[in-house]
Amino acid sequence: MSVNQKLLVRYPGGKRRLLTFLQDYLPDPSEIDGMYVEPFVGGGATFFYLQPIRALLSDVNPELIDLYRAIRYAPRKVWAVYCEFGNTKSDYHYIRDEYKPKTLIERAARTLYLNRTCFKGMWRHNRDGRFNVGYGGQARRWVITEKDLIFCATALRRVSLKCEDFQPIIDQTQRGDFIFLDPPYRPGYKEYINNHYVWQQFKYSDYERLTNSLQCAKLRGVKWAMTISSHRDILCLLKGNYALRIPRGTGKMPGTLTSDSGEVLITSYRIKSGERL
Ligand SMILES: C[S@@+](CC[C@H](N)C(=O)[O-])C[C@H]1O[C@@H](n2cnc3c(N)ncnc32)[C@H](O)[C@@H]1O
Repeated sequence: MSVNQKLLVRYPGGKRRLLTFLQDYLPDPSEIDGMYVEPFVGGGATFFYLQPIRALLSDVNPELIDLYRAIRYAPRKVWAVYCEFGNTKSDYHYIRDEYKPKTLIERAARTLYLNRTCFKGMWRHNRDGRFNVGYGGQARRWVITEKDLIFCATALRRVSLKCEDFQPIIDQTQRGDFIFLDPPYRPGYKEYINNHYVWQQFKYSDYERLTNSLQCAKLRGVKWAMTISSHRDILCLLKGNYALRIPRGTGKMPGTLTSDSGEVLITSYRIKSGERL
């Protein structure tokens, strides 16, 4: 895929804008002996860009994983239902609050519709697990076409899709596998209030679980790379690995980036200009 390929699912913090930077530090898919594993797949920018032959993708968000499952199985049917949904704010509220999908295809079409027409592609649920993001307009809805769903279905054909917490996914990796991780960042005040990702928060104890699993995976001969906020509480859990600050913004040349983003790339393997933690 090129960096310009459209992604079906909008994601706040998706990695698409960083692909030109990341590609220099990730292995070529042909060099991965085992499986490519992405335990926080979200919109899957990195997976769809690399298109590894053998992959395991997972996320704790069941609506997202069902969307990928349905698209893999019947992209044209998902598209047909998606096209039937209305174009107004009240249609959005009807689909969000009253429409009761009966099949996997209908559920997937609803998820795609809400993601493409809600405010900024956010995923937020109330305490009962109901999606409660406000209306964002139709501007992003028709940016995707049936062809993009078919592209996605082809890329997912041989992929194993799971809806699980990250820990068992990482713990089952073996020597030769490569893990790319883009966990929820250490939340700021606003994210705490708005509960940005699904209905659970990602807490400091989750970072501890995550980093423990990653250190064990490294000892088993698994390589991994992770993007994360460069907060010292998190970095000190990752001693012995390599860190590189991720620049932000578009430079003068297309695809180049400038100035600091507050994010870092951490790898279990040595990288050019990477600092040992
Ligand atoms: C920053 S987003 C990933 C964005 C993705 N890299 C992209 O390019 O679109 C983080 C993802 O982690 C998922 N997540 C949150 N907590 C999780 C957990 N405990 N286990 C697995 N996935 C989790 C969220 O549902 C969300 O999709």
